[in-house]
Formats: sequence, C-alpha cells, structure tokens
Amino acid sequence: MKIAILPGDGIGPEITAQAVKVLDALGEKFETETADVGGAGYAAHGHPLPAHTLALAKEADAVLFGAVGDFKYDNLERALRPEQAILGLRKELGLFANLRPAILYPELAGASTLKPEVVSGLDILIVRELTGDIYFGKPRGVRECPDGPFKGQREGFDTMRYAEGEIRRIAHVAFQAARKRGKRVTSVDKANVLETFQFWRDVMIDVHKEYPDIELDHMYVDNAAMQLVRAPKKFDVVVTGNMFGDILSDAAAMLTGSIGMLPSASLDANNKGLYEPSHGSAPDIAGQGVANPLATILSAAMMLRFSLDRAEQADRIENAVKSVLAQGLRTPDIYEQGTTRVGTSQMGDAVVRALA
Ligand code: IPM
Ligand code: MN
Repeated sequence: MKIAILPGDGIGPEITAQAVKVLDALGEKFETETADVGGAGYAAHGHPLPAHTLALAKEADAVLFGAVGDFKYDNLERALRPEQAILGLRKELGLFANLRPAILYPELAGASTLKPEVVSGLDILIVRELTGDIYFGKPRGVRECPDGPFKGQREGFDTMRYAEGEIRRIAHVAFQAARKRGKRVTSVDKANVLETFQFWRDVMIDVHKEYPDIELDHMYVDNAAMQLVRAPKKFDVVVTGNMFGDILSDAAAMLTGSIGMLPSASLDANNKGLYEPSHGSAPDIAGQGVANPLATILSAAMMLRFSLDRAEQADRIENAVKSVLAQGLRTPDIYEQGTTRVGTSQMGDAVVRALA
C-alpha cells in the first residue's frame, strides 16, 4: 500500500507530520512518498500541482493532504494560485464525493460557541459533491456585459451546472452512507431560484426510489444554514452541491468546537481517495507548533477505513483521539480553563501513546 503525502503550505507540514507519526506507530509499514503541492509546489517547481506530484497522487493507493494557501501567493494569476492544486487533484482524480463528518466529542461540548444542549451528541455527515457545480462550470471569466443597465461595462461570470449522472452518483453515495447511520438524507438545494437545483431535486427524488428504507427531505440552502445552528441534531446525512457544501461544512465544523477537529475524505467511484482536514492552511499560525493536528490524524483514520481496507486500525486511531481528549489535552483552538494546553507535536505524541 502506497500513500502519497502532500503537506502543502502554512500549517500543512506540521499537521501531516503528526498524522504520519501516528500511521508509523500502528505497527505496519506503509510505503509513503512526499511531494510538494500548493504554494510549496509553485515555489519549488513553478506550479501549484507539479506534474510529478499529480503522477504520484494518481499512482498511490491513497493521498494524505495537508492544506494549501498563503497570503504571499494571493496576487498570483488564478491558474498558479495554491488553491488550484486541490481543485486540480479533485478533478484529475475524479474525487467527486466529499464526506465531511461533524461529530461533537462530549469533552468538547464547552468549546462550541453553541449551547451544550444544542450540540451535545451531534453526529452529522455532510456529503458534498466535489467536481461539478459553479466551481468547474464553463464558460467563466470577465467579459463585456452584453445587456441590461450595465451593458458595455466589464462583468465577471461563472456557470452553475450539474449533469444528471453527476447528481445520481452523489445521491447514491448519500443514500448508502445513510443506510449505515440514521437512515435519513436531507438534500440541500435552491430549487426556488435556480434551474440547476430544481433539476438536482428532481434527480434526488428519482434516485430515492431505489432506497425505500431511507427517508429523504429537501431544504433550501438558506434555511439549512439556519437549521444547522438552530437545531443541528435534526440532521443525519446532508447531501448538497459543491458550493453550498463548501459553505455549510464550515458552518457545521464550528458546531463541534473547532474546525481543527474535522477530517474529510474525497472519494472516486472505486473508493480511492484523498484525505485532508476540513480546515485551511492557517498561515497566521504556521511554524508556531500550535496547530491542532487532530483533523489530519482523523483524516488518516478515514483513509485506513475507506481506501486501505483497515477499519480496525481506523478504530484504534479514533479511540486514541477520544482518549487524549478525555485526558484533557487541548491545542489552543479547543483550550478551556481546567484543561492542559499542548502544542502540535505533543498532541501527536499523545495520540501515539494512546494507541498502545
Ligand atoms: C475546501 C476549501 C477549498 C474549496 C478551496 C481551498 C479551493 O475551501 O476544501 O473546502 O473551496 O473547496
Ligand atoms: Mn471550504
């Protein structure tokens, strides 16, 4: 089994190092190979997704990804920006299904900005479509505005679109995931305004006919954002498009106390996957040894479960994370009075000790 390690920028290298440390401690030798990606790819090879990095990601059985992006690359042309690396990997590897679980560990109930009774016991799964929608739709660009009161001025434009097959395959992922959980799917759309999402809803309803054991309901995205902070425990599986999923998954992350706790998996049709924390590269705290590595460590656990067929090892890691939280160890993002503040590598070490 070969794992491509793509640490990226900002806190990426620090947090992936902890996940690799944890993988090494499982007592099984995984072959790993590390390559530059994002700003680091641009700095070393002139491109955020260098050809050899893409080739490695394609050849490996799974990809463990840190994070990309840094202020210093904000003025580069779009095609060279660090974010293009993750978008390119998703597209090139066909990683259309993004699983973003939001689980509140009981020990962190006080770290959430929401009242403990609203969030305690929270366990929801956001299934975000990842290779379609306005993120990839063409045409896009800046052009001369063709009509209306601003005719003749410059205008920016993008294209929102979803093909039927794209909606069907993500619907199947969501219904199948629900089968292993609470058996409920909420499809989030904007069918009241957007053609794309009226079509999305129609296709969801059609695919649902194959899953009579699963309950399906529909919610407009604005209402879903409100319900997520009002009564988040009412959700089980949430399935939605690329852009709505991007936004809602950040909101869901905060329910759990810190986005530093949230892993994610991006899967293709054969369960090959890229695993990354749901958070970004946090360049403001990079190199300080304070970033929370748990989202990346939990992403490694998802990798063992979904792509490497090692569910027992995944359980071991997840239990080790629960145990360090129960010991009261906290990185600054989840620190509360009465707990013990630790740094990035101390947290990694604690997970390794808890594995034993
Ligand atoms: C995410 C990120 C990316 C996205 C960016 C970095 C392109 O926000 O993974 O959620 O928008 O998908
Ligand atoms: Mn995002």
